[in-house]
Amino acid sequence: MKISGIISVTVSLLAASIAQTPDDYVMDDCIKCQSVKCILSKMTVEEKITQKMIPEFRSWSVGSCGATSSVTVMNSEIASFLAKYKFGGAILFAPNTPQTQQTLVLVDDIQQANLQTNKIPLLITIDQEGGAVTRLGQGTMLPGNMAVGATRNPNYAFQTGQVIGEELSALGINTDHSPDADINTNPLNPVINVRSFGSDTSLVAEYATQYYKGLASKNIIATAKHFPGHGDTSADTHVLLPAATRSREYVYTHELVPFQSLIDNGIDMIMTAHIQYPSLDNTTLPSLTGGEIIAPATLSKVILTDILRGEMGFQGVVISDAMGMDAIITNFGRVDASRKAFIAGIDICLMPAIPTCLADPLMAVFDQIIAGVKQDIADGTYTMEELDASVTRILNLKKKYGILAYDGSNQAARIANALSVVGSADHKAIETQMANDAITLINNDPVRGIPLNIDANTKIAILMPQIGNEQQIASVTKTFTDLGITVSTIPFSYLNTQFSATAGQAQIDQATHVILGSQTNVNNPEVDGGSITTNPGTTNGWATTFPISAINYANSKNKPIFTISLRSPYEVANFVNSTTTLAAYGFKGYNSGVMMEPNIPAAIRVILGKVKPVGKLPVDIYSPVDKTTIAYPFGHGLTL
Ligand SMILES: *[C@@H]1O[C@H](CO)[C@@H](O)[C@H](O)[C@H]1NC(C)=O
Ligand SMILES: *[C@@H]1O[C@H](CO)[C@@H](O)[C@H](O)[C@H]1NC(C)=O
Repeated sequence: MKISGIISVTVSLLAASIAQTPDDYVMDDCIKCQSVKCILSKMTVEEKITQKMIPEFRSWSVGSCGATSSVTVMNSEIASFLAKYKFGGAILFAPNTPQTQQTLVLVDDIQQANLQTNKIPLLITIDQEGGAVTRLGQGTMLPGNMAVGATRNPNYAFQTGQVIGEELSALGINTDHSPDADINTNPLNPVINVRSFGSDTSLVAEYATQYYKGLASKNIIATAKHFPGHGDTSADTHVLLPAATRSREYVYTHELVPFQSLIDNGIDMIMTAHIQYPSLDNTTLPSLTGGEIIAPATLSKVILTDILRGEMGFQGVVISDAMGMDAIITNFGRVDASRKAFIAGIDICLMPAIPTCLADPLMAVFDQIIAGVKQDIADGTYTMEELDASVTRILNLKKKYGILAYDGSNQAARIANALSVVGSADHKAIETQMANDAITLINNDPVRGIPLNIDANTKIAILMPQIGNEQQIASVTKTFTDLGITVSTIPFSYLNTQFSATAGQAQIDQATHVILGSQTNVNNPEVDGGSITTNPGTTNGWATTFPISAINYANSKNKPIFTISLRSPYEVANFVNSTTTLAAYGFKGYNSGVMMEPNIPAAIRVILGKVKPVGKLPVDIYSPVDKTTIAYPFGHGLTL
């Protein structure tokens, strides 16, 4: 009591006098006072520049630059990297966060490594969106934004933010790169799709805003992304530099609307997209691949400074999407891309380079960016005033969320708390409820469809794509077990088999019923080609051709077939012959003893009649025959 009394008196005396004489104090005093002006005055130019960078280290090779392994615990090399550069933050990925206690300890060790040299605590960030993009190995996955859109219950968007916020906060992670505010109007979108709440502007605006409020209620910095909108593209920025070609008027009345709602409600961070928006800014930049290309939003001063800050009134922190994405480095190079981004108005460059060992040549990128920005200041293409204003925004954000007052004490108590909060039974119950309410019944034969009644003779063929580690068949059978149902099943994994028109037929022949999973974005079998694993937007011969032929074969044998769309629902218009078709909006199954996304179990509960379908499509579904005709409109969803 006595000690804390003395400290608080000291702090308030410092705070009172700080305005007059900041020079009398060292950085420790400035941090204690939480005076942003004072902190800024003690920072070197180099420290200001690295405050504007956030690196990652999901994998590392200790001692030499050999084979890397996942970083789950701090090592002295990463600690020295952090201590050397005094970054503004660090971003975590799934390899960093497999377990609750381990994650908390790693986060503490990251903060401690930084504090060796840098008095300013770090933003610890993550892409914990819920659904398809989740990083915590033991957290609550939730059904994902498009599923939440399908529930038509905005409170679920708030609860998504609240649950994720509570789990991140318990782990010491202070920033979530979420919610996705993109409007998924392009059915061929390979990278956003189920990460979006839907195709309707006002639905996305409302739900993204509720999600942000849920995160904020747990003192987590939310990040609206990907400004000015990544929903109307058919290329993945991890690979290509896509262009959004809509008119200026359209973009202002669609893509920008959710971001404006989030800004008006006080969101503190916005992430930019590596996408060209010629209707907003057609300024060109020289490309390393030759010629001039239109500046992507991340490098556009018109978009980031004139529109986002000027017209839309955003006063928070603008962070780039990952600067290592091919879309950026192929055209502009790593160092120049970050320099140009800062000039355009980016406050923080995310992952300017991804070194994986101390002697990695990519380590030089950080020094080159520092030197480059200093050169830009000398040349007047960037100014000290701009640098100071940007760093001030970052420090103000850290102050607002209590990060300047970071306290790494009481680890044991924080671990105990995290173990009770992360993936708690309460969170799982909310997750189940949301997933149930999302299941959307597209079509259903009233006689042979839902419910699938199980008796002693029932044998169910389960045909699933089994992508990567996601054991979708196990997700179905585990759900039967959890419901206390004993039924004989005949699994067939159709991903890794060569396509043939007769595949899966033996399994259907032996069965009385079929449960079929479909995972693709496309609605037309004729464009099948490419790889379903690496790019669900351009699928292989299995993507729609296999489900369609399985459905028609089951019909020819008079076996009821229940088809579940596992990702974007756009392909369901091909499944008119399915006895029952459901959209579940989530494809991750059951892995290493852990049920991942709750979507497949929810669909099974609906098929068995344990839960009534109440979901409504959050996007328009176009006909596979005539792409301008809507087969199932936004809002479609049968009830029983
Ligand atoms: C670029 O945009 C400006 C202003 O919107 C317009 O006047 C001009 O024609 C555009 N240039 C090109 C090459 O599209
Ligand atoms: C639906 O079944 C009918 C009758 O077997 C068939 O002619 C038609 O091609 C099928 N349609 C689709 C989209 O599979």
